[in-house]
Amino acid sequence: MRSKRSRFINRSSPRKPAYEIGIFAGRALSEVQVKATQITGLAAGREYFRFFFDPVGCICRLYRRHGPVTALGRVALKQPRDLLIFAIGPEFNRLLFSDPDLFRPTGLILPGPRDSAQRRVRLGLTRMIGPQHRQQRQLVAPPFHRAAVQGYHDIMVEVVQRLITEWKIGNCIDIHEKVRALTLRIASAVLFSRDPAEAYPIGRMLEDWVRRCFSIGVWVYPLPVPGSPYHGMVRQAERIEKALLAMIERRRADPGARSDVLSLLMQARDNEGRGMTNAELLGQAAILFIASFETTTSALTWSLFLLAQHPAVMHDLMDEIESVLGGDAPPRPDQLPQLPFLQCVIKESMRILPPVPYTVRVAQQPVKVGPFDVPQETRVVASHYLTHHLADLYPEPERFRPERWRDINPTQYEYLPFNAGPRICIGAAFATQVLKISLAMILQRFRFTVVAGTHINRIVTISMNPRHGLPMIVAKKDRNYSVSEVRGQIREMVNFPSNGSG
Ligand code: HEM
Repeated sequence: MRSKRSRFINRSSPRKPAYEIGIFAGRALSEVQVKATQITGLAAGREYFRFFFDPVGCICRLYRRHGPVTALGRVALKQPRDLLIFAIGPEFNRLLFSDPDLFRPTGLILPGPRDSAQRRVRLGLTRMIGPQHRQQRQLVAPPFHRAAVQGYHDIMVEVVQRLITEWKIGNCIDIHEKVRALTLRIASAVLFSRDPAEAYPIGRMLEDWVRRCFSIGVWVYPLPVPGSPYHGMVRQAERIEKALLAMIERRRADPGARSDVLSLLMQARDNEGRGMTNAELLGQAAILFIASFETTTSALTWSLFLLAQHPAVMHDLMDEIESVLGGDAPPRPDQLPQLPFLQCVIKESMRILPPVPYTVRVAQQPVKVGPFDVPQETRVVASHYLTHHLADLYPEPERFRPERWRDINPTQYEYLPFNAGPRICIGAAFATQVLKISLAMILQRFRFTVVAGTHINRIVTISMNPRHGLPMIVAKKDRNYSVSEVRGQIREMVNFPSNGSG
């Protein structure tokens, strides 16, 4: 591979030996000379391709080969706007996430034609910047404050209860698909309506839209020709817009005493007494739904998988759950804080397999990223996954050891499943509550064994999930846990114990 130092490197920096990121974790970037590489030409094209199909694999590979900072540039004739920088580690996370005026987010969903429903549906908090973002965040955040989230406890329990009754002992189920159905129902019920007949169809439409947004076809052939995947995606956005606006209108006509998040957003007022327009409600509701259910699906799927593969952890967790909840009762709100080991399990799951494994930010002004002086509009990739796998922050990073959380207290830039800084996820308390309730209820009823020999590769769209599902055998709750041999990319990400060693 042809790689060379580029003219974007600030040559005024004195030449010192390069440091690996692990060594300077916790020190200011200005204190160290960071190892950096620029890759150009065909080699860069190859990396772009790899990044598109397997971003986590590509980021890890570049890090292993070139260290914490790699720049891909000048793939085609255009330059230097084409730069894509990979900047790994806590100090780069701080650089990218602490000042939203320096770096802005960029969307993963195609914008669609001008004035299309596609543009309006994707315009939620995640895409807004500056004063508009601050004003909308002030309106959107209150229903997700810890106290408000407690109010959704009963509906979450009710949905989990209803759905897991359908999981049959002795069956082989795709746990990823089942969890997806569960979180889809929870998000629909809490965000839109307690009445499944009203909420669920919208949830399904949004799920379908996300699937279309991430299908290869819409990227390869992004033209609104009837019959094309792109056209199908835009049409689906139109249906969602129609259905959500109708739901908003029904609530305006008859506000009633509703507690769903959409109704709360309709009543919200900012400091100057301004509420949301219909267009704002549409974008926020759609993005909240997607941000919520895609990520929570990933966290719950991987948690169940990691637990199934770690018998010793399961024993400890079941000791805690059974002693607090008695063995078969759903948790009450006051019991959730009495499950500290469950909290450690959730944290460790999202460390080792973070639902959002990387984030892209765009420089809003010329800025220095490690040794590179980069122009405005340069895209920079930070990796939650790689940060969580740095050995000096997390010894034996590929081992699932929830008990490590009893002794460590990383900064927000060292542990960032929900991101960090002023744009940190507003749904962290919500997601944590869903995870605690679901895990406590599911594990009190079932034991899971991963089907031996399963190939588990990752797919990353909005979140990271098993590419081809995750088959597990459902047994009644007992303590006969066993580790299954699994194959695929999962083995690069997790070191599994052998049977009997926990
Ligand atoms: C385990 C579950 C979740 C994970 C891992 C997660 C992760 C994240 C991450 C990494 C971001 C930053 C994205 C970026 O800046 O590019 C984010 C933002 C966001 N999340 Fe979550 N999220 C989760 C659940 C939720 C839930 C349940 C909701 C709402 C119900 C939600 C709503 C949002 C919103 C609205 C933002 C944008 C915040 C802003 O830009 O100001 N998330 N989330």
